[in-house]
Amino acid sequence: MTTQTILVTGGAGFIGSNFIHMLAEERGDWRVINFDALTYAGNLENLRAVEGWDGYQFVKGDVSSEADVMAALKACGDGPLSVVHMAAESHVDRSILSGLPFVQANVVGTQVLLDACRARGVERFVHVSTDEVYGSLGEEGFFTETTPLAPNSPYSASKASSDLFVRAAFHTHGFPACITRCSNNYGPYQFPEKLIPLVIANAQEDKDLPIYGDGMYVRDWLYVRDHCEAILAVLEKGVPGEVYNIGGNNEVPNLELVKEVLAILGKPESLITFVADRPGHDRRYAIDAGKMRDELGWEPRYEFSKALPLTVEWYTSQVEWLQQVRTGAYRDYYDTQYASRTNAP
Ligand code: NAD
Ligand code: DAU
Repeated sequence: MTTQTILVTGGAGFIGSNFIHMLAEERGDWRVINFDALTYAGNLENLRAVEGWDGYQFVKGDVSSEADVMAALKACGDGPLSVVHMAAESHVDRSILSGLPFVQANVVGTQVLLDACRARGVERFVHVSTDEVYGSLGEEGFFTETTPLAPNSPYSASKASSDLFVRAAFHTHGFPACITRCSNNYGPYQFPEKLIPLVIANAQEDKDLPIYGDGMYVRDWLYVRDHCEAILAVLEKGVPGEVYNIGGNNEVPNLELVKEVLAILGKPESLITFVADRPGHDRRYAIDAGKMRDELGWEPRYEFSKALPLTVEWYTSQVEWLQQVRTGAYRDYYDTQYASRTNAP
């Protein structure tokens, strides 16, 4: 692949910032344009370490705004360009409270981006989707790339819709897009509304840990760096029009996971508090990632038994990061570091 400029949408979020850190380490001669609206989930503090990297540039904007997308594409220059599309509203509980922002960011945003990227001409477009588009599994079986889409939450419905627009762009226009569908990620820089960072943050302060329903809901946990490496493999070796499932082959019930985090922290299980269930809660997700392994040579490298303690250690050592997120102070970073510059993006 000749591409040296990558537009990453949603690069200030959890997976996006880990992805950009990985590119800085492994593809240091690339140019990376991080295009992000800086919603509550976007945090430029996550990217402080790459701000000195010559290849990195931040552009603030909304994927569902044609003008903002055009400005981001302009910043990419005229040379060969590839796109990794991660910008999205990502939290299931928020989508239950209100679905419309999910339609706007995830569905409208994806279509606006697809149209602009098709007009611009891009070498490769990787659409980062989720295993949640397949709905819920019973006690047996795994999601494969041919499992029918059956989303159950407004979040997963919006992601499934965006997948269908990406599919249509490939079939109708020959647009060079791949779709990835990954299981639950954990690791540094995750917003503490999601289960693992929420539990770590609350337990540190001896606050209750809310467990939905009976706590026997199962997720297939994958360390975020493994997901980032899988996305890079799809970017560099994926076949346009194909879907790739990504997972950790690591199913853990929520209650067991929370007990493991408490054991690492040395905190009592009495902090666990069973609360009302999430409406429409999917019982079990599990991914068959055989296609990634057989066709692209990707496999997870991080074992849960080692990466979970590493993750807990990261959150307990990043006192300032966690405090800034919890107080909302992280939202000032753009204003102080970017907006005051005359050439602010
Ligand atoms: P996140 O919520 O941490 O980050 C999302 C980022 O997108 C934020 O920086 C936010 O500011 C930005 N954003 C939101 N709306 C935008 C818009 N309209 N325009 C521009 N930027 C916007 O999410 P994440 O967990 O990093 O997830 C990234 C992607 O990966 C999402 O598409 C999500 O569906 C997918 N995914 C996540 C997981 C997971 O476990 N977290 C697993 C599989 C797939
Ligand atoms: O499967 C991939 C998906 O994983 C991604 O597409 C989503 O963007 C990401 O948010 C994640 O979705 P989940 O809903 O699985 O993640 P969450 O961390 O919100 O919840 C994990 C499990 O823990 C789920 O069964 C709900 C439960 N839970 C969650 C929270 C926040 C609780 O029991 N208590 C909680 O307070």
